[in-house]
Amino acid sequence: MLLTSTFLLLAIFIISAVIILPRILPKHSLPLPPGPPKLPLIGNVHQIPTKDEHITFLQWSKQYASDVVCATVFGQPLVVLNSKEAVMDLMERRAPIYAARPRMVMCGELVGIGGSVALTADMNRHRHFRRLLTAALNPRASQDYWPSQMKESREMMVRLLDDPTMLEDHIKRTVVAVIFLVCHGYQIRSNDDYYIWLGNKVMQNFAKAAAPGAWLVDFLPFLRFIPAWVPGAGFQKIAAEWRQEWFDLLEKPINMVKANMAAGTAKPSFSSRLLEANAAGARDKKEDDLIMWASGSLYSAGADTSVSAIHSFYLEMLLHPEIQAKAQAELDRVVGKDRMPTFDDMALLPYCGAIVKEVFRRRPVAPLAIPHTSREDDTYKGFTIPKGSMVMGNIYALNMDPTVFGKPEEFNPERYLAPTGEPQNPAGINRDIGSWCFGFGRRLCPGENIAEASLYMAVVNTLWGFNIKYSLDADGKPILPDMNYEQGVVSHPKDFKCDIGARTPAHEEVMRTAAAEYAGM
Ligand code: HEM
Repeated sequence: MLLTSTFLLLAIFIISAVIILPRILPKHSLPLPPGPPKLPLIGNVHQIPTKDEHITFLQWSKQYASDVVCATVFGQPLVVLNSKEAVMDLMERRAPIYAARPRMVMCGELVGIGGSVALTADMNRHRHFRRLLTAALNPRASQDYWPSQMKESREMMVRLLDDPTMLEDHIKRTVVAVIFLVCHGYQIRSNDDYYIWLGNKVMQNFAKAAAPGAWLVDFLPFLRFIPAWVPGAGFQKIAAEWRQEWFDLLEKPINMVKANMAAGTAKPSFSSRLLEANAAGARDKKEDDLIMWASGSLYSAGADTSVSAIHSFYLEMLLHPEIQAKAQAELDRVVGKDRMPTFDDMALLPYCGAIVKEVFRRRPVAPLAIPHTSREDDTYKGFTIPKGSMVMGNIYALNMDPTVFGKPEEFNPERYLAPTGEPQNPAGINRDIGSWCFGFGRRLCPGENIAEASLYMAVVNTLWGFNIKYSLDADGKPILPDMNYEQGVVSHPKDFKCDIGARTPAHEEVMRTAAAEYAGM
């Protein structure tokens, strides 16, 4: 009976869509950008893969000889920009049209993350957020977080010495600890800390809730009204659980900061600085609420992404012992063997810096960024892009452009070095970081400086102190990693086995001594 009513609802929707949609949809004189042939109503639903969409979209771009391609999903155009030119023309030069976010029913509305910086479609709210973020995350301000990043990274090296088999867990703990220090001045002290659990849980929830194409309710928003007890509406129960966890992450830490501020014990952090500035005038509750959302947003957008990049670094080093050796030669020359690297060494370690850039390029953390949407009907290169289209910049396509990055499949840090060994981006790149891994236009990642510093610390500390080698199976053969990445908004290397050991006992001793200096902090 219940099922019958769900199907009835679905049938009414489909019939209405078939009859009414063609009448109400605006007629455009220019065609949509090219793409695979569409079926009535469902469009290209059956052709959009659930895995490696970025690769399929780049293939379509070649197949249809157009850097801009289009699929439709239940009448909604999904436009993919596969070249730097198209991304610059639309997302940068026509930013007012392309800066908004599309509706994401599961992640945004049901789980409740829609009010965050990364997902908000309200451009006034977004502008306000970006002002707060620019103040706290600009290149100068980001350096205030370097001591926390160095401390957490050094402590991770000791955890690696103690248990090298738990690489992924160590990375997650380190990233969560850095973000909690940056956002709330809160020091995570043990693996049992509630915020490690909550942070990791929200990270997983977000990745699943925002996974493109994973939830029917994203395409048929009326399904959000179906109560959780209706068979087939299990997504409602999941969403309710994830929503509670998201709001716990938003509210609990900021309440803790407020309590610490009242007691005079708060450590300076992103949220304490902003709350203090707000308290300096007449306290504005609405502003306090935005500060809470802004700091929660740093977590939701900054944690999983950083974990992926650092994990990819270890994977690439496993595959490239010759690159480890070159970086170690640089580190030995510049830093020596008696101390660990610091941020002061950065300018003198161009090869390590090039590894950071190459990880971001070759293993784009969010290969399709986060979808943007068009706020007006637009035309481009003889095609129409209707208002409300989902528009994606294909970071993967840009980072793998062979006209910019020769032999793009190769992991080759030297592409970021001049023949003299000085840092140098390939011609045509207008990003300091050397690729498009941080997205586009007004939605460009505001955490770029923090992310780069976290990866830099992981690179220099790990390569200074460790060798990363293949683990061997029972027959003494190397265990090769599975190179298929796990997909979602954020793509991750599958967990892999490797053998991580200190380069020498002297290196181990220096790492332990360096981390011990932070004991009790
Ligand atoms: C490896 C690390 C990271 C990568 C590769 C990365 C990449 C991205 C990308 C591709 C976007 C979407 C851009 C677009 O829609 O065009 C984004 C958005 C965002 N990132 Fe990052 N990110 C990283 C780390 C961080 C960190 C550490 C933070 C915070 C401290 C952060 C905060 C944000 C926020 C708040 C947004 C939403 C921006 C908006 O919609 O206006 N990210 N990031």
